[in-house]
Amino acid sequence: MSIREIITVPDEILKKISKPIEKIGVNEKKLIKDLFETMYNSKGIGLAAVQVGILKRVLVVDVSSKDEEKKPMCFINPTIRKVSDEMAVYEEGCLSIPETFIEIQRPKICEIEYIDIEGKIKIEEFDGLLSTCIQHEINHLDGKLIIDHLSKLKRDLIVKKILKIKKNPDRILV
Ligand code: NI
Repeated sequence: MSIREIITVPDEILKKISKPIEKIGVNEKKLIKDLFETMYNSKGIGLAAVQVGILKRVLVVDVSSKDEEKKPMCFINPTIRKVSDEMAVYEEGCLSIPETFIEIQRPKICEIEYIDIEGKIKIEEFDGLLSTCIQHEINHLDGKLIIDHLSKLKRDLIVKKILKIKKNPDRILV
């Protein structure tokens, strides 16, 4: 296993559409392990393959809290089958958009069809934080980011701010 580098905006790869996985081989299994390790290392609750530069439709999530047992979940080729009319609002961050949180409204409940790590097709319903997290990650597979919910002006400001952070690393004296 290894921790992979997380790609941040404005990298164009984040806007690309990921391709379905046709078979779960050695490379795919290694990718999934690396996604988990990279996500845990960054203290995120979700990560899509595109965020480490791999355009494959796979994502991992774990919304368990710190004092709970880990609940790693992996979704291969996920699609949203149904969503509730009822909406939920969370302030969302993204590992690809450092230091930015945006209030986003999404359907509260979603039904997802996906392939699990053993290659089995599953259909499951998700609610609350897990539902929001999966929808956020599926958006990544379609090249959509949380800043796309904002006006172009606000989006450009955020990207500018992030580029500035990248150019000015923390100054330390040792
Ligand atoms: Ni994200």
